[in-house]
Amino acid sequence: MSSFYVTTPIYYVNDKPHIGHAYTSVAADVLARWHRALGDDTWFLTGTDEHGLKIEQAARKAGVTPQQHADRFAEPFRALTPALLLSNDDTIRTTEARHSQVVSALWRKMVEAGDIYLGTYAGWYSVGDEAYFDESEIVDGKAPSGHAVEWVEEHTYFFRLSKYGPLLLEYFEAHPDFVKPSSRFNEVKRFVEGGLKDLSLSRTTFNWGIPVPDADGHVIYVWMDALTNYVSALGGPGADKYDRFWPASVHLIGKDILRFHAVYWPAFLMSAGLPLPQQVFAHGWWTVEGQKMSKSLGNTIDPFDVVQRFGAEAFRYFLLREVSFGSDGDFSEAGLISRINGELANDFGNLVNRSLGMLDRYRKGVVPARGRADAAEDGPLLQAFAEGRAELLAAMDELAFHKALAAIWKLVGAANKYVDVAAPWTLVKQGDDARLDEVLYNLCEVQRVLGVWVSPFLPHKGPELLDRLGAADAQRTVASTAEWGGLPSGGHARKGDPLFPRIEVEKPAEAPAPKAKKEKAPKAPKAPKAAPKAEAADGVIAYDDFAKLQLKVARVLAAEKHPDADRLLKLSVDAGEAEPRTVCAGIAGAYAPEDLVGQTVVLLANLAPRKIRGVVSQGMLLAAGDGSDLKLATVPGDLPPGTSIS
Ligand code: ME8
Ligand code: MG
Repeated sequence: MSSFYVTTPIYYVNDKPHIGHAYTSVAADVLARWHRALGDDTWFLTGTDEHGLKIEQAARKAGVTPQQHADRFAEPFRALTPALLLSNDDTIRTTEARHSQVVSALWRKMVEAGDIYLGTYAGWYSVGDEAYFDESEIVDGKAPSGHAVEWVEEHTYFFRLSKYGPLLLEYFEAHPDFVKPSSRFNEVKRFVEGGLKDLSLSRTTFNWGIPVPDADGHVIYVWMDALTNYVSALGGPGADKYDRFWPASVHLIGKDILRFHAVYWPAFLMSAGLPLPQQVFAHGWWTVEGQKMSKSLGNTIDPFDVVQRFGAEAFRYFLLREVSFGSDGDFSEAGLISRINGELANDFGNLVNRSLGMLDRYRKGVVPARGRADAAEDGPLLQAFAEGRAELLAAMDELAFHKALAAIWKLVGAANKYVDVAAPWTLVKQGDDARLDEVLYNLCEVQRVLGVWVSPFLPHKGPELLDRLGAADAQRTVASTAEWGGLPSGGHARKGDPLFPRIEVEKPAEAPAPKAKKEKAPKAPKAPKAAPKAEAADGVIAYDDFAKLQLKVARVLAAEKHPDADRLLKLSVDAGEAEPRTVCAGIAGAYAPEDLVGQTVVLLANLAPRKIRGVVSQGMLLAAGDGSDLKLATVPGDLPPGTSIS
């Protein structure tokens, strides 16, 4: 059995957690769950960084002791575990004795290696980053991060970092995957090639830290203290858990702390004679509605609040689907809601509802026999399964969570299409029982496969779907999805409530819907059991299906030619929401862009966003006719954008 060890940074307890912290922890959790599902011996560590001047100052400001401050703020970080459904095996605090013992031992090893000597440091220090900066790195009197710097001069113990420059470069050369993404690796290499200076490794002007062994008045530099958590939590060199899991498979971090993980940490480990982690992955930075998150702007997003309003799983899905892992991302509520309603509720949720609904109606919930394994009509579905699996495995291997989810959702799309094309309701009418069994079996099986694949991302909904399908433990491993047909027939599947309820978006107060429109449309009589909606023939849909469409008044704010498609125009429309939407429309043959601005049109607002030739289209405009005879459906211009059309 191979082992897999993933870590998050240990977070500073100067303040409460925000979505940035949630992000790294969720990514680490998905990775840990994935490796458990692969059958790897897995360990997932997170924790809190509780020493140093930053914490001491925060405590002083709060009028409490550093320990009290640390105790108070370690709590909400611990609470991320249940809130975000994290499966971490341990949570380390650097104020624990098990930690400081290992830090002291590591210090002694570095002394034995002849890498530590006493001297005087004079230079810039940023408390916000807990980092030393060279004069050449100071930008407008500040650290590159924007944090304030102060000039410090003190007696310190130095670490011979300069000695490790060439060794690190050699190591980098021999381990091309040591830092990911590769653009970040290049930054690290440039930094080391620029020449490394010895590093001040102790402080004497405050005492909130681990004492330097045998040296009164010195505390160990907080980054050496903090980085050591990755081995102290395993019990340190010699402990069983250390032997089982060190070196780490991957340290997940944000790009802000790459230098510490890819330069200092490996150098410390080399000095102490310990193996280096296999990989450091530095992900990108989240902004909020286009702005840098900051306390002074008051725009930090509280993960507990997001979870309470939208659910942990939707939040996890959004964080990992929205941006490619490694790139920067922007958090917006509209973006979150659109993914919940489009991809979770509509795409995935509807597949489950319709498939289990039909199984319930047509076969009393019993999973039918598999039937022919080579039915030509099943080709596209089986091909989507094989491709999806290959793409998923490759994506997870390179920590491309966004690609992994895209691969899974391609299969969701193929399965929905399979329902439409195979049309089980028609098979019922035709009395084609054998084919109906095949189709229903394949729908159960595709849901099982999807349930296994989404489980690391959606750790409750995935297993819940597998429960509904009656899948046994052996049918929940990644290996069990290597071949089609793992779900045994004869079991009982349960329909249940919608897996992902839609989020109803409240209308903004500035644009109230006209009174008449507010009245609820009369509820259609519930379709009788004998004629459920999916059975409607000849293109007739049930009222419930129609009611799912959200048609809205929208005003065209801007229009231009699509950069990459002659037939298309790219429009920006006001649909009465916080931000305009981008919509691609195949109307370039009929309208010049300038003719459209100001028109009041009809937007299908809850269509899942789709990338059309590189532009994400968030909805569809209704139009009549085609080619140059096409006309956009319009409504009177005095209806405010966002008014719903029913
Ligand atoms: O740096 N976007 O702790 P920290 C994405 N204690 N990720 C973000 C983020 C954002 N806007 N903001 C924070 C420390 N993060 C040290 C680490 S490790 C031995 C010691 C995430 O509380 C991201 O993972 O400042 C980043 O690296 C980390 O939180 C920094 O957390
Ligand atoms: Mg920070």
